This record gives sequence, C-alpha cells and structure tokens, in this order.
Amino acid sequence: MKRTLGTCYYPEHWPKSTWKDDATRMADLGLTWVRIGEFAWSQLEPTAGAYDFGWLDDAIETLGAAGLRVVLGTPTATPPRWMLDRHPDMLAMDPKGRPRKFGSRRHYCFSHEGYKQECARIVTALARRYGRNPHVAAWQTDNEYGCHDTTISYSEAARSAFRLWLRARYPGDGNDGDIDALNGAWGNVFWSMKYDDFDQIGLPNLTVTEPNPAHSLAFRRFSSDQVVRFNRLQTDILRARTNAPIAHNYMGRITDFDHFAVGADLDIASWDSYPLGFLEDRVGATPDHQRRFARQGDPDFQAFHHDLYRAVGRGRWWVMEQQPGPVNWAPYNPAPLPGMVRLWSWEAFAHGAEAVCYFRWRQAPMAQEQMHAGLLRPDNAEAPAMHEVRQLASEISGAPAVGASCTSVALIFDYDADFAWSVQPHGQGLSYFGLVFQVYQAMRTLGLSIDILPPDTTDFSGYRLIAAPGLMHMPDALKEALLQSGAQVVVGPRSGARDQDMSIPVPLPPALPGIDVTVSYVESLRPDMPVPLQGDGAVTHYVEALEGSATVDLVSQDGAAIAMSGMNTQYVGGWLDHQGWRRVLRQACTKAGVDTLNLPEGLRLRDTETERFWFNHNAKPVTFSGRVFPAASVSRDTP
Ligand code: GAL
Repeated sequence: MKRTLGTCYYPEHWPKSTWKDDATRMADLGLTWVRIGEFAWSQLEPTAGAYDFGWLDDAIETLGAAGLRVVLGTPTATPPRWMLDRHPDMLAMDPKGRPRKFGSRRHYCFSHEGYKQECARIVTALARRYGRNPHVAAWQTDNEYGCHDTTISYSEAARSAFRLWLRARYPGDGNDGDIDALNGAWGNVFWSMKYDDFDQIGLPNLTVTEPNPAHSLAFRRFSSDQVVRFNRLQTDILRARTNAPIAHNYMGRITDFDHFAVGADLDIASWDSYPLGFLEDRVGATPDHQRRFARQGDPDFQAFHHDLYRAVGRGRWWVMEQQPGPVNWAPYNPAPLPGMVRLWSWEAFAHGAEAVCYFRWRQAPMAQEQMHAGLLRPDNAEAPAMHEVRQLASEISGAPAVGASCTSVALIFDYDADFAWSVQPHGQGLSYFGLVFQVYQAMRTLGLSIDILPPDTTDFSGYRLIAAPGLMHMPDALKEALLQSGAQVVVGPRSGARDQDMSIPVPLPPALPGIDVTVSYVESLRPDMPVPLQGDGAVTHYVEALEGSATVDLVSQDGAAIAMSGMNTQYVGGWLDHQGWRRVLRQACTKAGVDTLNLPEGLRLRDTETERFWFNHNAKPVTFSGRVFPAASVSRDTP
C-alpha cells in the first residue's frame, strides 16, 4: 500500500465557482484523498424528506475529475434543526438530567430509536446514490463518536434500552432476565438496593451518594455497546451498497466506548491528530513539559494513538485529520514550530498509516472554527503548513510502501479496564489511560517500538515482552495465554482486582497462575507523598501491600515489596513514576533479550520491517550516539 496524503474539504462552505480551482490545487499539491460531507445534512435534506443531492453530485464529479479520491462522510453527527421538531426527545441528557441543546453538533442520544431510523434513512439514500460512484473510494461513518462528552446519555431512551440490555446480560432460564441474578452479581443486599423487577432500575446519576460501582460499570458497558450498534446500523446499510472501505475517525484519549468493538465492523481505523491541542488539554503533562513542547506536542501522545489505532484497524489505519497550524479549542493555541507538520506526518507513516489528511483545506471565515488554521488562509493564500505538505508529497512519492510493524514488544490496552478505573479510581487523578500511557512513555524512552494489542488476544507469538498494566478484570483465558506466551510479562497494579461485575474476587487478586503473590490491601496516596524505592524511582498515587513466596524484585525504602516475580511474570504492586517504570521495563527487556537504548528527552525512534525513523521533537538539535538530529526533524535510515 502506498503512503498517501489528503485533506478535509467542505464544498458547501464555498461558492460552487471555486470548487474546480480548489480541486486542481489539491491535485497539484500531490493529495490523493479529499473527505467531504460529514456535516452536510441540512444541505442534503433541507426539509424532512426533500433531498437535494445535486450539489453533492457536482462536488464529487469536480473533485473526481481532478484525479482525487473522495471519502464520503455520513452526516449523522449534525442533525438539522427540523429533526428536533420531529423528535423533541432525541437530545442526549447530561448527568444532571439536562438536555444538551441544538446550536453546535453531536446533539443526539445513541439510544433514541426515532433518531436512529432517521440516520438509517439518510445513510440509505447516500449509499444508494454514491455506493457505486467511481470517485467515492472510501466512507466515514458519522464524525468522532464520543466528542464533546457525548457517549453517555441519561435520557429516557437510554433508560429503556439499558433495562433491555440488563435483561439480556442476566438472562436466567426464561431469557427475560433474572433479577435475582442481577441482585446477586451487583451485591444489592448492600444498603437494601435490591430490585424486584428490571423495570425498576434507573440510570446511575443523581443518586444521593455514589451509585453501586457494579451499576455504574454496567451502564458504561451499555453506553459503549450503544455506540457499537449505532455504527453497525450504518455499516450494514453501506456494505449492502458499496465495496469501498468504511472508516470512522476516532479521537485522542477518548476512552468511553470500546473502539475495538466499533472497529470490528469497519475496514480502516482513522483518528484525528491535534498534537498541540492535546498537549494543552489531554496529555496531563507538567507545566514545564507543556512549555518545552508547546509548539511540538508531546513526543509520545500521537505515537501512542498511532499504535492503538493500528490495532483497532487490524493493521489498516489513517490519520483522517491532521493539525496543520493553530487550532481553536485548547486553552492556548500556538502555531507549530516549522518542520512539525512534516514530522507529525512522517511519524504517522512510520507507525504504519496509509494516509494522512489535513484538517482543513481552507480556514473558515465564519462560525465556531474561525480561529482554526487550514492549508489555505480564508483569502486563499497559502498558510505556513502548505510548503511542508508539498515537500512531504514529493518525499513520499519516492519512499517505500507502508511498512509492516516489526517488534517483539507488546502493550495490552483494554477499554473495559478504563471504564472500571473511572467508576472506581480510588484516588483523585488515577486513570487507566494515565497508567498505560506512562508505561508506554517509559518504553519509548528505552528506544522500543511497540505493538498495542486488544485484551482478547490469545496468540502472542513473536512477542518477547508483554506489558499489561491495570487490567482491572483479567479473564482466566488471558492469564493463561500470557503464561503460555513464553514472553516476559509485566502486570499490575490493580490487575485482576475485580471480577466481571466489579466485586473483589476470592482468592484475592491478582491470582495469577505460576506466581505466588497476593495483594492484601491497597492505598491511594496524596500526590505529595511518594514512596521512594531502594535504588532509582518511586511509587506515587497508589500502592498495594504484597505478600507471598514469589521473588521480591523491587523494594521501597521502608522495606515493603513493590514488585514480585515468578515463572515468566512480574507483578508490580504500585503506580511507579517514570524512573520506576524504566527500571522495571529495562530489567524485563534484559530477561527477554530485547535491546534497549537510553534516548535523550524528546528524541524517539520507530522501526518498521524496512526502515528506522528518528524523530527529534525538541526545539533544538540533539546529539545521540555521535549523530546530530536537527530541531523538529525526521531522519530515516533504510538498510
Ligand atoms: C475535530 C473534528 C473536526 C473539527 C476539528 C477542529 O475534532 O472532527 O470537525 O472540529 O476537530 O480541530
């Protein structure tokens, strides 16, 4: 597969007389893809049932005639205003029970049957008209599921659907739900929370104090399943009418639905990469780090998502939206350092992307995203990123095809664990994503290339080191597969800490085969009370008391066991700091026979089967191993 470039374009925002010139400029720039249509419902169906496809026919024809391949988005993220008159109760409800309003986007509840029928109708109409159009070479469902906190809705529609979902989850004999099974699994004898019937069960919001964590976790899983079903409704319709691949554009650090489950119905995973916006509002970095990388973005955050979405797409993935200049939505919105747009794009290719598309072609002079750069300014002149994209287009035309991943290091990522941690963090600021990302960062500073794997992986062949931190519920099959993998395995903290219904299992966690270690109790710690380790590093935020006969590998300064190992497995009983994780992982690599490096801050590498890439994310040159890497640069070694 060739490496390709593209852009996001909104023909409906510009006079028709300009489309041909835009298309020619895109093609001349060396772009392959142009994504259109994902917010255009009110243009496609100005009043209910009265379609206007003429303009889209012309836009697709104009773009296609210029040699571009169209990614057509379904417009279901932006229901028109008239939709609310037909379905006044289709709005999602926030945790306080207030409806989200019309006037921006994503104002719908995933459980609303009437809205879903409307979506099925518009998607069917689009698929019929464009499913076999030769210029429509890919589809995108909706836009950024979950964006603006929209996965979870506390609406009436959600409540009814949740009850049905629970009946199916606790089926009993008659398949109509066994309420005693639910009461037993959730421990509803506690605080007299027992139900007599599924129809008595409400949503876990507005309770006096916290709801039962089992109830909350069930609702999180249900909400995730509703996204999967919503997406599947569209893919079923599209598949019947097109052979073009179907994608969705996921986001950075949005974990409130299971992307692996959505991805199972799609051909390509794509995601929207805004490195500078993320550094400000999503990475969770210190102010020093934010200042240092303000114009470059975090050196690991994009890479993490590239690896995650490569797994979600089962190998096929794109960047559907790449930041080309300042954005509008973060607390502060600086411009990228010259060279960074090229670096970000090459980084995506290094992690296996088939395409990188820039958001957006031209900056909009109106509405919410006026302050968001494009490749062109509103007056049609070139914005600063344009020359980097031009350079890239010529570079990729001579470069090898998309390189397959080739690493012996794996990291498991489990959305369900993220749900469980967020239901029961046990300490302020503790999150599953935060933990896994910290392990990923430590791996990257050791110069490792990483495959992220889903939690239902059973075949670990080819991997010599597997890290699976924080898997709150660890099915026996996974424990067994890890034991049998022959790799060095690093698990914990909180691995296997809860059963599938969020109770503490007995025998006590982690109950791993082949290693005698038990977590006897746990504590969460104030951020200002780290527990230093003997040697380098410390435990911060969260620590477990470990007992058992396994070998003690890591000890705190006051003599408590922090990590223990047996057979091929090491259990880490605490949230380690960066130095602590580096120590644990370096040791595991040594045992596994995996080479490590000691990369300087901001320098990262990525290996594929045929290339080694070096990325210097620093604003100044860095010397490593006698080699100088210029500021904000990419270096590519081909053997
Ligand atoms: C994305 C979204 C785009 C646009 C962009 C601005 O989240 O998919 O439609 O809003 O952000 O950065």
